[in-house]
Amino acid sequence: MAEREAREWRRGDHRISTDVDMLDVGFLHGFLTTAYWSPAISRRTVERSIQHSLCFGLYEGDQQIGFARVVTDRTSFAYLADVFISESHRGRGLGTWLIETILGHPELQGLGRWTLATRDAHELYRRFGFGPLADPSRFMEKRDRSEAGDSPLPDHRMPEVRGALGAGA
Ligand SMILES: CC(C)(COP(=O)(O)OP(=O)(O)OC[C@H]1O[C@@H](n2cnc3c(N)ncnc32)[C@H](O)[C@@H]1OP(=O)(O)O)[C@@H](O)C(=O)NCCC(=O)NCCS
Repeated sequence: MAEREAREWRRGDHRISTDVDMLDVGFLHGFLTTAYWSPAISRRTVERSIQHSLCFGLYEGDQQIGFARVVTDRTSFAYLADVFISESHRGRGLGTWLIETILGHPELQGLGRWTLATRDAHELYRRFGFGPLADPSRFMEKRDRSEAGDSPLPDHRMPEVRGALGAGA
């Protein structure tokens, strides 16, 4: 779902915006093809996932340097996906600011559950209250292993959902 009202947060030279029109799709696609969770993702899938998520772009001036998106009903759950800061800008607190901003978004308060998948950033997310599943026996997942990231599928197979579930896993 596209954001209805774009919001913006500023800190020094940097800003975070939920305005999808500002997103640099080429930059996003370029990074995501190098990410361990989406090596073969197509530009079309990136575009669809943006269109149907609440997206947060991080900018230095007009240049996009970070991103994250949230799949959510804005009522009971949110799934955090595709979180990254471009390599040359890491280690300056921007990732922390991005996650803080997302978790503080006014339309994402009081949700019953936030989830995410990560290979190695558990310690980072632990700082924001994330932890292991309290009762893993209640969770299930369905994966299509034939799609190593993003093989072509008919549109009705909802590739944007497939991308969300694959993020960071
Ligand atoms: C994870 C990421 C977004 C953090 O961005 P950043 O701007 O470097 O983050 P910050 O500068 O705010 O630092 C956050 C802290 O988390 C730590 N951290 C960063 N990545 C980490 C990881 N993979 N595992 C554990 N800790 C990590 C940093 O060392 C730092 O610790 P410090 O505060 O003690 O110095 C960035 O490293 C990134 O884009 N990584 C590649 C993509 C990725 O793995 N995304 C997460 C997918 S779930």
